[in-house]
Amino acid sequence: MLLLSSCNQQELAEQTPQPPTSSARDPSIWPSLDLSAIKDPAVETQVARILADMTLEQKVAQMIQPEIRDVSVEDMRRYGFGSYLNGGGAFPNNNKHATPSDWIDLAEAMYQASIDDSLDGSTIPTIWGTDAVHGHNNVIGATLFPHNIGLGAANNPTLIESIASATAREVMATGIDWVFAPTVAVVRDDRWGRTYEGYSEDPEIVRSYSTAIVRGLQGSIDDTFLNDDHVIATVKHFLGDGGTQNGIDQGNNIDNEQALFDLHAQGYVGGLSAGAQSVMASFNSWHGEKMHGHRYLLTDILKNKMGFDGFVVGDWLGHGQIDGCTNADCSKAINAGLDVFMAPSDAWKPLFHNTVKQAQSGEIPMSRINDAVTRILRVKVRAGVFSKPSPANRALSGRLEIIGAPEHRAIARQAVRESLVLLKNNQQLLPLKPQQRILVAGDAAHNIGKQSGGWTITWQGTGNKNADFPGGTSIYDGIENAVSAAGGSVELAVDGNYQQRPDVAIVVFGEEPYAEGNGDIKTLDYQAGIKSDLKLLRTLKAQNIPVVSVFISGRPMWVNAELNASDAFVAAWLPGSEGVGISDVLLRTIDGDIAYDFTGKLSYSWPALPTQSNVNRGDRDTQALLPYGFGLSYGDKDVLSPNLPENSTTAAANTDSERVIFRKSVQAPFSALAGAPDTLLEMTSNVLNVDGLQVRTRDRDVQEDARQLQFSAGGQSIYVIASNTPIDLQTGFSSQTALRIQVKLEQPPSEPVTLTMQCGDDCAGAIDIADPLTAMPLNEWHELSINLRCFAEAGVQLATVTRPIELATKGDLQLSFSDITIAPSDSATACP
Ligand code: BGC
Ligand code: BGC
Repeated sequence: MLLLSSCNQQELAEQTPQPPTSSARDPSIWPSLDLSAIKDPAVETQVARILADMTLEQKVAQMIQPEIRDVSVEDMRRYGFGSYLNGGGAFPNNNKHATPSDWIDLAEAMYQASIDDSLDGSTIPTIWGTDAVHGHNNVIGATLFPHNIGLGAANNPTLIESIASATAREVMATGIDWVFAPTVAVVRDDRWGRTYEGYSEDPEIVRSYSTAIVRGLQGSIDDTFLNDDHVIATVKHFLGDGGTQNGIDQGNNIDNEQALFDLHAQGYVGGLSAGAQSVMASFNSWHGEKMHGHRYLLTDILKNKMGFDGFVVGDWLGHGQIDGCTNADCSKAINAGLDVFMAPSDAWKPLFHNTVKQAQSGEIPMSRINDAVTRILRVKVRAGVFSKPSPANRALSGRLEIIGAPEHRAIARQAVRESLVLLKNNQQLLPLKPQQRILVAGDAAHNIGKQSGGWTITWQGTGNKNADFPGGTSIYDGIENAVSAAGGSVELAVDGNYQQRPDVAIVVFGEEPYAEGNGDIKTLDYQAGIKSDLKLLRTLKAQNIPVVSVFISGRPMWVNAELNASDAFVAAWLPGSEGVGISDVLLRTIDGDIAYDFTGKLSYSWPALPTQSNVNRGDRDTQALLPYGFGLSYGDKDVLSPNLPENSTTAAANTDSERVIFRKSVQAPFSALAGAPDTLLEMTSNVLNVDGLQVRTRDRDVQEDARQLQFSAGGQSIYVIASNTPIDLQTGFSSQTALRIQVKLEQPPSEPVTLTMQCGDDCAGAIDIADPLTAMPLNEWHELSINLRCFAEAGVQLATVTRPIELATKGDLQLSFSDITIAPSDSATACP
């Protein structure tokens, strides 16, 4: 009581902070932003005039955003959608190698269909949105900048603004109007699969970068705003995506409102003040309530309090995750303040009709529809969409020299240099003289796909070859050029088995590419239970070869053992297509000078334990191995002990008692293949067509967590999940253990279907699963579980399985599958 009376309100709030789990609401936490500079009464008049002439159907069409794989130009003519998108790894004509003119052709055809009023009576131009999240990353030949985590380490807003303007130009060269970036997540738990899409764990950099990126993409409010070489930007994902519990993608954020603002909303303060015209709603929930249906945060706060007058676009069927909604039906989202449904798949059509009905019945008030459409039109008018020429005829369209332009690559190369963080440099091993004999090893050394991470041509960033990056350089390429020019010699040996003993080894290794929830992990232990890169480092070190590690990763990881086994250690993050930026810093010039020093500083704390996934700047109770802001320069002394503790009781925590073969995607060490038995192919995009078999990615609960197999009679192809090294499915597995597959039967088999488990050449057990499949109701998810004993009885040796799955049929069959595990099951008793 005494204390109470001696404090003013403000001090009291500081002394008794809200518990972190409180969902109490207090709009006074949020600022009103001054956005007057972008407001223009003439725009409002024009918008009101357009709106007044629109039918309900035309209005709802503005609010629906289908995806290019599931919408045709004729659909566009018929409905006149306000916008459309290509998802990650979606290309014109489903062709990964689509040329810039294929992109323009599609943009032009969609635009012309949208302004054709013959069927829908509308002449409102459509706009195309794309995920240009580290450059125009869906397009072959584009400049790929380092992912955001590396840009955060560079901490250079001016550089970031030039990256954004270069990206805008490359996007405009393909006729596209709108970019789904920047991601302004403040990442609090590095197990999250999208950690690398965040600039930092702290709002400071995120806020200033958001301003810079939006300015780079859209132009600056007072002169170049949305002019001929700028695109519409999207600040995403609103709100709290980086703060979900345990770093689970699309999970639940339970921060109190003050933390929601202080941490997670700072990128919106920066980005909206710079004039960002769209905001993407997030998949995550706040205190259990999905953001897509969160009226308080979307409407009361973002629009009414902060004053955002652009539009809110949903994320990939995110509305369907709201309680009471489906992908095809969701008045709740619109009523909460969503303006545009992102509606890939075939959901757009029923969603359109349901939304029209809900507006007619008053379930969605007409005022809400009018408000949403006003916002969409306002952005279109501001962006000059009504006045500028069609996509093929715009200022930058078709100027092929812009895509992957040398001056853009130079910016990317600078960004690579500035993003590198030097963690260790024992006895000043770096910089290296280029006149030496240098071994380059590690499976990321000459692999532009791996160094570029997720959101690289394909959604997951997997399935790419160096040839898919014309104009790009691998890390090895950069080293090779510089060393050869200086008269030294370079040998590339991925596995470290050199021909000639080197003076020094540069080993480039790290995480395989991933995107979104596919990248969620349980601990930060790098290569838990595998440790093959560590072995490589140790082998070199045991021969007294000095080792420089270049670590490719989408997050800080627990690498104590790898640090101990390295003389120098560089966190290189995901540098993108300009691998040459790395040798710029690692090597001296021919004359022995230092051309570029390390300037990158950690924008994420580096963990001392595999469990330290949520140690962040300013934490009082836990100490990181290396704190936020850390980064050595040449000449600095090491701070790390050469003998960091390598044991951790949690080291094996990424492996479970069950063996997961497929969950969201195929799990290491397995890979999925299809084709004729002697020419099996990996999927390199979201569809793979081989003789008589089509494999497609499908969405079950989240994006691309399922695969669809369509076998046609007479084909020769099989579908295989294989491992390079034999897997032991015997030791430690009980007699109850089964192969469990989540299946949806779509077309029953017309012939026997053999499911074979293999243990090398001439070692296999095959089972006909046609009966259990045929017994399944069509188009529903069910589990097919077969006790491992059945395969053993058919001839497989469970201790040395090389292919847990080989599926073949001579007839027709269509099914989808999602999770495949080896795990106990009570139901799998009798063998098929
Ligand atoms: C992602 C967004 C992205 C969208 C479109 C979603 O799954 O969360 O960041 O913009 O897909 O590809
Ligand atoms: C799509 C990708 C898309 C991603 C969005 C996937 O299902 O196939 O194209 O970008 O979801 O997050």
